[in-house]
Amino acid sequence: MTSHIDEGLKAEEKKNEKDGGFVVPDTNSFGHNFRDYDAEGARQPGVENFYRINHINQYYDFVKRMREEYGKFNKVEMSIWECCELLNHVVDESDPDLDEPQIEHLLQTAEAIRKDYPNEDWLHLTALIHDLGKVLLHPSFGELPQWAVVGDTYPVGCAFDKSIVHHMYFQENPDYNNTAYNTKYGVYSEGCGLNNVLMSFILCFT
Ligand SMILES: [Fe+2]
Repeated sequence: MTSHIDEGLKAEEKKNEKDGGFVVPDTNSFGHNFRDYDAEGARQPGVENFYRINHINQYYDFVKRMREEYGKFNKVEMSIWECCELLNHVVDESDPDLDEPQIEHLLQTAEAIRKDYPNEDWLHLTALIHDLGKVLLHPSFGELPQWAVVGDTYPVGCAFDKSIVHHMYFQENPDYNNTAYNTKYGVYSEGCGLNNVLMSFILCFT
């Protein structure tokens, strides 16, 4: 006999299969909720304004230009730990619930991943360095504005997906009404591979 609980579990398994097997937990390693971009709070208006400016300015030609410029790696040379310390003076304006120095964010992320995956040392390192691209906010790396360094990573050169946070602000992006860039595949072809897709010029992964 199948109980209601069994039926519920089966339904949940089916749903997970449909989502590619990825189960989204309700809380993170510290027992806190994940970020909510629509939740009201002191940082919400500033965060929303950040995304408005980001979505207006991240268009195909801009991304191409920036990749060429920063692909030269000719700004400055420093160690990983020096980069971490440099981030201590940076606050990510795109994050609705984080207003602590970035170095704390790097260490917290690495510790949380070490707790969940104690044997995967490569993953601890990945967590520690995942936001180092934010050094581009610093004068020694060109002092780029926040909208060109932090925020969401999404494809450009094709229609902006509705799942991107604060999607409505793309209406002011020059690519939004450009028929070369605003169709489902845009400048790409189906199955072209992610290596051939230009993503928004975001140097870190929230
Ligand atoms: Fe991060």
